[in-house]
Amino acid sequence: MTPDEFRAAGHQLIDWIADYRTRVAALPVMARTEPGDIRARLPVAPPGRPEGFDGVFRDLDELILPGLTHWQHPSFFGYFPANAGLASVLGDFLSSGLGVLGLSWQSSPALTELEEVTTDWVRQMVGLSDGWSGVIQDTASTSTLVALLCARERATGFGLARGGLQAENRPLVVYASAQSHSSVEKAALLAGFGRDNVRTIAHDAAYALRPDALEDAVRQDVAGGRRPCAVVATTGTTASTTLDPVGPIAAVARRHGLWVHVDAAMAGSAMILPECRWMWEGVEAADSVVLNPHKWLGVAFDCSLYYVRDPEHLVRVMSTSPSYLRSAADGRAKNYRDWGIPLGRRFRALKLWCLIRTEGVSGLQARLRRDIANARWLADQVAATPGWRVVAPVPLQTVCVRHEPAGLVGDDLDRHTRSWADRVNRSGAAYLTPAVLGGRWMVRVSIGAERTEREHVEALWQLVRREAERD
Ligand SMILES: Cc1ncc(COP(=O)(O)O)c(C=O)c1O
Repeated sequence: MTPDEFRAAGHQLIDWIADYRTRVAALPVMARTEPGDIRARLPVAPPGRPEGFDGVFRDLDELILPGLTHWQHPSFFGYFPANAGLASVLGDFLSSGLGVLGLSWQSSPALTELEEVTTDWVRQMVGLSDGWSGVIQDTASTSTLVALLCARERATGFGLARGGLQAENRPLVVYASAQSHSSVEKAALLAGFGRDNVRTIAHDAAYALRPDALEDAVRQDVAGGRRPCAVVATTGTTASTTLDPVGPIAAVARRHGLWVHVDAAMAGSAMILPECRWMWEGVEAADSVVLNPHKWLGVAFDCSLYYVRDPEHLVRVMSTSPSYLRSAADGRAKNYRDWGIPLGRRFRALKLWCLIRTEGVSGLQARLRRDIANARWLADQVAATPGWRVVAPVPLQTVCVRHEPAGLVGDDLDRHTRSWADRVNRSGAAYLTPAVLGGRWMVRVSIGAERTEREHVEALWQLVRREAERD
């Protein structure tokens, strides 16, 4: 494709996306396809001869769009908000259009320095002290893996340079609550701790990790000849946005020399609101923090920010320095390849930069406050309606609800919950995700898509009541 062909198709593509965003509210939120439907309509083999871009547009409309669940729909209440603000979409285009790679500072100086500046902007926005240094990773899963690798290496005094974990005489242990994201266990397993050394710590009635249970588990492990290594505290758990008490957890960790990683993938965005910062009080005592601007904040996926207290330790764990990557600037500039796992990095800072500049901190704050108020409104409606229950505290934008008709309990109640949620999703008018909390199914209403206003939440509540109460 030549630059002139790109200009023509690109203008058309921007129009296509702008039209999509304008009309997305009229589309069914959940895809109405069965597994394999889309694949069956696509050619098995690649085209032998060049095709024009017109065919791509045709297939976008006829094949791809009907096969999508629309995350940018104002009635998308599933999983978590993954807003792709249009300014950040432009930043993402720019990153691809420039096509530069950050292998080292010298390979794209502006890529590195904009990443330094934007990660520091977000640090200030969320109220972290200037003792933290940030880097952009692809996802929170990667950030948490990096955190546990760093924890492992601190505990072993850089055992990777010797016999690694295989040479340790005491098994290293990682702690988290059952409400922590599956990426925590996955990271612990990939980092070589082994399932036998991943402890699930009890939580309280509000689903928050209990520091006293952590203390007990750590003591038991020490008594059993193991070596406590790291604890992951979650600010905003996936199922119910529960807030683990970071300060008291960090106090236990300090007594026993544990690495503290705070997973604020979802709720980290809310820390741009000063009134929410109590939710991760004690965070300054942590060793690492992850938050995902690609969730609620509005940066197009993927953009996960990983902050550390001790960048030198991170670099020592992650660095490699083959000769072709060395340059005269080494020592005077940051080489982000040494701040994570991949060597090559995209210019992700552009999308963060474009979003923050066009929305301003105040614009982002106003949107998040709107969403929290909408969640509060919904929680109040549910709590005030006979037969309905809010099943977990609502500190942020997720409301966990259950319809509990008289006499319906146990598995029958679970079947009822899942079937009304399924009817809502199949209606195409809204999208929700059911999940298990406290051993029973409930339905999460995750509010916070960029276009979701009070009217959409009101319409959802009517729809949910209609579908659940009709049985
Ligand atoms: C608390 C929490 N941590 C981690 C993740 C994983 O995020 P990512 O997809 O960026 O790996 C999620 C995603 O839902 C989450 O809610």
